[in-house]
Amino acid sequence: MTSSTTARQASEQGRVLADPNAYADNDRLHEALTWLRANEPVAWVDNPPYRPFWGITKHSDIMDIERDNELWISEPRPLLLPAETEDAVKRDQDAGVGLRTLIHMDDPHHRDVRKIGADWFRPKAMRDLKVRVDELAKRYVDRMVEIGPECDFVTDIAINYPLYVILSLLGLPEEDFPRMLKLTQEMFGGEDDEHQRGEGTTEDILAVLLDFFTYFNKVTESRRANPTNDLASAIANGTINGDLMSDMDTVSYYVIVASAGHDTTKDAISGGLGALIQNPDQLARLKNDMSLMPLAVEEMIRWSTPVKEFMRTATADTEVRGVPIAKGESVYLSYVSANRDEEIFDEPFKFDVGRDPNNHLSFGYGVHFCLGAALARMEMNSLFTELIPRIESIELAGEPEYTKTIFVGGLKHLPIRYSLR
Ligand code: HEM
Repeated sequence: MTSSTTARQASEQGRVLADPNAYADNDRLHEALTWLRANEPVAWVDNPPYRPFWGITKHSDIMDIERDNELWISEPRPLLLPAETEDAVKRDQDAGVGLRTLIHMDDPHHRDVRKIGADWFRPKAMRDLKVRVDELAKRYVDRMVEIGPECDFVTDIAINYPLYVILSLLGLPEEDFPRMLKLTQEMFGGEDDEHQRGEGTTEDILAVLLDFFTYFNKVTESRRANPTNDLASAIANGTINGDLMSDMDTVSYYVIVASAGHDTTKDAISGGLGALIQNPDQLARLKNDMSLMPLAVEEMIRWSTPVKEFMRTATADTEVRGVPIAKGESVYLSYVSANRDEEIFDEPFKFDVGRDPNNHLSFGYGVHFCLGAALARMEMNSLFTELIPRIESIELAGEPEYTKTIFVGGLKHLPIRYSLR
């Protein structure tokens, strides 16, 4: 280890990066992140039960790290987990029974595996899907009318719509959707007692993974026996150098698509509506000029930053902003902080539906750039294009509540009162 002692004297502020409670308290979170950007943009964080890491909070440092995917790799620590869970995941992966999704992989294997599903997320595929997504958007706005004049926008609307889209794209039967919803919440909301399975122990988390595994192994078997025209068939029958993917890579692919494809989008949708309600001038501006929609959607995605972090590990001794980082040490890329970096964004704490440019890092950057970014944008565009013109009035009907998480999250409850046309 070559890092100097001084650089390792982490401030208290860095601990927020590894504190699920902090992500449920925006004021406290942003106060600490703003301090870190100004004073300790490369911060040594030691907050058990997590292993120590370097917290990176500046936009340009995160881009530099993600750009250099030979020096900075995803293995063996693509995201922050408690040390005990990290060990259990590694044990399972080594034994060939643990999930290894795209986010865990590095090139060249990552590139080959990503290619198998990539066509399903390109602009042409998105255009083909648009009619269906518009239809679903209308269905969910109509549902708001049916259940109005009050609802919890997160649990009644935002959670179901993207799930429906992604599972339809995969080609899974509708009766399985509630089960997928529960499993995804148990996996991503692991630190939140409302969503976690059991006590949220390592065994509980591994049991969730096992359920995913059992379900999707059956999907692989059926799609190999009877291929259909859906993403699940493309994954089940995808080959690398002429060979089918291993069972583990195949199952992991479904899991990343089914899970990453829905909870994140739900957080961006509900975070976006929450921001519009809390900034009525911006809602009025968008309603008066719907051509702002693509910019407004980007701003909602910046504002909500559903994915809080990913990590990379150094393959050689190096430095970031002059701070030495040793081979084998990990960096935590704080997308939440990058998206409020005052060096990149004018008035970063202002929600501005016309923000342009808006180089947010909510979808990451580089070779792991979100595979579903175009889909998420389209889903949000369709939903808000349907919803906004129909709003006669809308307001909060209670306190919004946030998920405790250090990975994926956002509004857990958004009680609203409204009148829609
Ligand atoms: C607003 C919604 C979404 C956000 C904020 C989001 C965010 C992210 C982020 C930050 C990454 C990692 C990027 C990096 O490491 O540089 C990622 C990767 C990924 N996302 Fe998304 N995502 C969203 C929606 C979706 C959707 C709808 C899908 C649909 C399948 C999806 C599928 C994936 C996949 C498969 C990866 C792994 C890509 C790789 O490692 O090569 N995401 N996403």
